[in-house]
Amino acid sequence: MTEQKPTILAIDDEADMLETYRSILAKKYNFLSAATGQKGLDLLKKEPVDLVLLDMKMPKMSGIQVLKLIKESDQEIEVIVITASKEIETAVEAMKLGAYDYIVKPFDTSELKILIERALNNKALARENLYLKETLKETTTYCDLIGRSAAMKNLFATIDKVAPTDSTILINGESGTGKELVARAIHKKSKRDGKPFVAINCAAIPENLLESELFGHERGSFTGALERKTGKFELADGGTLFLDEIGCMPAAMQSKLLRVLEAKAIERLGGEKSIPVNVRIISATNINFQKEIDEGKFRSDLYYRLNVIPLNLTPLRERKDDIPLLTEYFLGEFNKELNKKIKGLSPEALKAFADYDWPGNVRELQNMIERLVVLAGGDTVELADLPFSGVVTEPMAQDENLLKNAMEDHEKKLLLRALSEHNNNRTAAAKALGIARSSLNSRIEALGLALSD
Ligand SMILES: Nc1ncnc2c1ncn2[C@@H]1O[C@H](COP(=O)(O)OP(=O)(O)OP(=O)(O)O)[C@@H](O)[C@H]1O
Ligand SMILES: [Mg+2]
Repeated sequence: MTEQKPTILAIDDEADMLETYRSILAKKYNFLSAATGQKGLDLLKKEPVDLVLLDMKMPKMSGIQVLKLIKESDQEIEVIVITASKEIETAVEAMKLGAYDYIVKPFDTSELKILIERALNNKALARENLYLKETLKETTTYCDLIGRSAAMKNLFATIDKVAPTDSTILINGESGTGKELVARAIHKKSKRDGKPFVAINCAAIPENLLESELFGHERGSFTGALERKTGKFELADGGTLFLDEIGCMPAAMQSKLLRVLEAKAIERLGGEKSIPVNVRIISATNINFQKEIDEGKFRSDLYYRLNVIPLNLTPLRERKDDIPLLTEYFLGEFNKELNKKIKGLSPEALKAFADYDWPGNVRELQNMIERLVVLAGGDTVELADLPFSGVVTEPMAQDENLLKNAMEDHEKKLLLRALSEHNNNRTAAAKALGIARSSLNSRIEALGLALSD
């Protein structure tokens, strides 16, 4: 992801402090500074600022006053206030006014950097959530189907076209892509809405029972047929019959089904009468039909009869635009159902969602979110909460300073730790690090660690 650098504005009356901020932040961020509250507010009107570092103790306009005015003009700007240890009440008041956090002087630079990163992430997440909520309001739902990708929009348009006809439709798609939901949407958009939508899963019913399930039977027509049974065809009369996993239909049933489709009438098992039925057939499969036909396992004449209009559902990994939207939708649903308040996924977790392949498609996503909502500790789902976070590998960024920066970061951490463990006594810290005091001093300077002596 190539992103613009965030902009940070530091407002502080001490020129030294502004210089320190510049030295630690100017590399990574667009850095702006202002020596008074008023100058800072003027800059905010001109520049899009993401985060303000605000000194609380300034002559003329106080930090609190500046904070109020910043938040009045733009709630979204994150503010980290800088206080002296004596003014902790001011810090608390600042938090109430909407500051993101405060940091007490003197602080170490890594602490400040971490706080800044966290505040910026928070802002990005808030913005992302807002954006998702807005887009969710757009026309992204079609009956119960959710999607905004080109593939889904296309599907909605196709359903609009084919729903009003009586043509048979064969929906092809991997498991969990929403075949049943699509079949229901077609029914809903057709003139048969209001009449029954009846579904039967051909793979789930033993071969000897399938015929009776579909066409019904008369009492006594076979051992165990104690009552007359109405079959799915009759139940669906006037409406739609959804034949799920049609590829699993046994050969004998295929011939019977073909006959019924041609005659537009059924005969109950053990019955003599031909009963006219007016049913629209929608079937679904997740297998490669051509192979079944080539191998003689599925009758090609029945296939053509069922497949007047083919609808192919796109796997989720090929319409990644839909992932954030579906995520937001299911989060909302499971929050309601489980009485939780999970706000969203962190940007890293959302990226891992986008990178993952979702072999179980929308159903897998739905189940995953249910699990995350049940198990969530905080109010945000983090990368570490995801079961597959370990397999997502970021392509290495092109950065000539990559190794140097990583080593410097590590070195800074070590220096800071040694110093803090020895109460800032540089001689002791240098000894612990196994270097001369003069080397420690020069490394502190080279790394731009703003430390008081
Ligand atoms: N576009 C979508 N919007 C919202 N929910 C969806 C969408 N697609 C699928 N779902 C949900 O995902 C789950 C699986 O959908 P469905 O049962 O329709 O898939 P399927 O293709 O029939 O899967 P299978 O082949 O495994 O039967 C359901 O809970 C459904 O509500
Ligand atoms: Mg299904």
